[in-house]
Amino acid sequence: MQFSVAIDGPAAAGKGTISKALAARFGFAHLDTGLLYRASARKVLETGWSPQVAAEAVTADDLARDGLRTQAVAELASQVATIPEVRAALVAFQRSFARRDGGAVLDGRDIGTVICPTAQVKLYVTASADVRARRRYDELRESGQAADFDGVLDEVLKRDARDMGRADAPMRAAEDAVVIDTTDMDIAAALAAAVSVVEEKMEGTAT
Ligand code: CDP
Repeated sequence: MQFSVAIDGPAAAGKGTISKALAARFGFAHLDTGLLYRASARKVLETGWSPQVAAEAVTADDLARDGLRTQAVAELASQVATIPEVRAALVAFQRSFARRDGGAVLDGRDIGTVICPTAQVKLYVTASADVRARRRYDELRESGQAADFDGVLDEVLKRDARDMGRADAPMRAAEDAVVIDTTDMDIAAALAAAVSVVEEKMEGTAT
């Protein structure tokens, strides 16, 4: 069975948690596509290669390496993600993941619009910038990284502007995406909303 779930939205809106939980619940494979951009950025930092060459060299093994979750890597990831050749180098990996048997959840910025425009389910998970910065700040502190709230908010706003403003595959909700705003929702409520969209589609697909 091929069934793809596309989840897009800005940093720290909850799409990663929702994607992982949906994949576990329905037995789908999960790809956090942000890791492809982070792994490309990390390769640039490590090797000094051009972003395009780095992106072309990224393999599945690179996605499991440590050190992809730092703010420095996230910042450079959002810069390399504006380069069309970098995005093009990462398309085939994402599309073949989406087509795998047994179902797949992909989360990112352009999954419903560019990577999987025919996905059975499209969600756009968002929240206010303040709430997202607070969640990212708590995550960083919990993982032992130094962070100050204003700095994190600033970084979230800068990345939002870059992700929405780029010419190639800007972050936006697909016209047929269901929007889940998690500003005033806890994770259980957000997940319940996502599960009901998937169940509805699966029933529709089965009949
Ligand atoms: O986890 P977080 O939302 O902070 O970031 P991420 O999903 O790991 O993505 C890091 C950066 O990669 C984003 O700021 C985007 O610029 C870029 N990205 C993208 O352009 N397209 C995607 N499908 C996924 C990520």
